[in-house]
Amino acid sequence: MKMIIEVTGLVKRYKDYTAVDGVNLSIQEGEIFGLLGPNGAGKSTTMNTLLGLLKINNGTVKMFGKDFSKHAKEIKQSVGYVPQDLAFFETLSAIDNVTYWGKLYGLRGKELHTSVQEALEFTGLWDRRKGIAKTFSGGMKRRLNIACAIVHKPRILFMDEPTVGVDPQSRNNILESIKIMNQNGMTIIYTTHYMEEIEAICERVAIMDFGKVIALGSIDELIDSISTGTRLSLELASNTDAAISLIKELEGVTACNNINGVLDIHLEKEERFLTGIMENLIRKEFKIKSMTLEKPNLETVFLQLTGKKLRD
Ligand SMILES: Nc1ncnc2c1ncn2[C@@H]1O[C@H](COP(=O)(O)OP(=O)(O)OP(=O)(O)O)[C@@H](O)[C@H]1O
Ligand SMILES: [Mg+2]
Repeated sequence: MKMIIEVTGLVKRYKDYTAVDGVNLSIQEGEIFGLLGPNGAGKSTTMNTLLGLLKINNGTVKMFGKDFSKHAKEIKQSVGYVPQDLAFFETLSAIDNVTYWGKLYGLRGKELHTSVQEALEFTGLWDRRKGIAKTFSGGMKRRLNIACAIVHKPRILFMDEPTVGVDPQSRNNILESIKIMNQNGMTIIYTTHYMEEIEAICERVAIMDFGKVIALGSIDELIDSISTGTRLSLELASNTDAAISLIKELEGVTACNNINGVLDIHLEKEERFLTGIMENLIRKEFKIKSMTLEKPNLETVFLQLTGKKLRD
């Protein structure tokens, strides 16, 4: 697999505070790669160093097989950036903003006009192209932020929390458009502290905490790497205590507690353990009122690795 970005031993300090602490990353051409981590984990700092916006203290960055420090100007032509903070002129129209960015990347004449139109159409803003940016809704502003970043058709697009402050429908639109850009060949690096977004669009993810990558792989690989299994919540019509005694003895059950009348059962990973519990409860004629299953996800991975939640 061809690596489009290779980062080795990346360190970034702000005065004596180490915000990025020895990060290694290899990003494959054509993937949507997620950077997941809580506030302050170092996601934006990592991204900004890869974009050459911040000077690094240590390490190397290669993009398109070339050393970033030696070929920065050339590399930047093929890279787009959707910053966490909105970056356009509030008092200009959508089309003037996108045109400004297109010119900045050296587009002129017919190519400029066509590219601006394509970027605005793609983000669903063409009909509102003459609207002044500051009058736009939160979702439209986020889409304009994206239009400015893709006007020059970059091969790599860095997106730093592009859905912050938007309603669920706009969020889904943005996630869908990311998938389309990716299908058209763009490599995307996406930061967020919403694991649902990572699960929706990313093939691989690096989980960051305190400036370090603490886990890296496909979502399935990361979930497989932890020992936590499924969690089952069961509400019975009666005899809760008797059920606890029974369940605790069953194969694959690591814990079973009564939480306000609901059984909170922790299971080892294999699915057959769930069948075993059900069979035993039915055989002993326990009546089940309700049940929910919680499968391990990226939040569980983060919790197991750090002992804290992603969004504390
Ligand atoms: N310009 C700066 N000067 C000093 N410290 C900074 C600066 N920018 C970021 N930091 C610190 O570096 C750490 C990493 O910040 P960064 O913005 O990279 O985190 P993040 O993962 O993007 O967080 P968020 O999810 O809140 O955007 C934080 O502790 C932050 O306070
Ligand atoms: Mg950030």
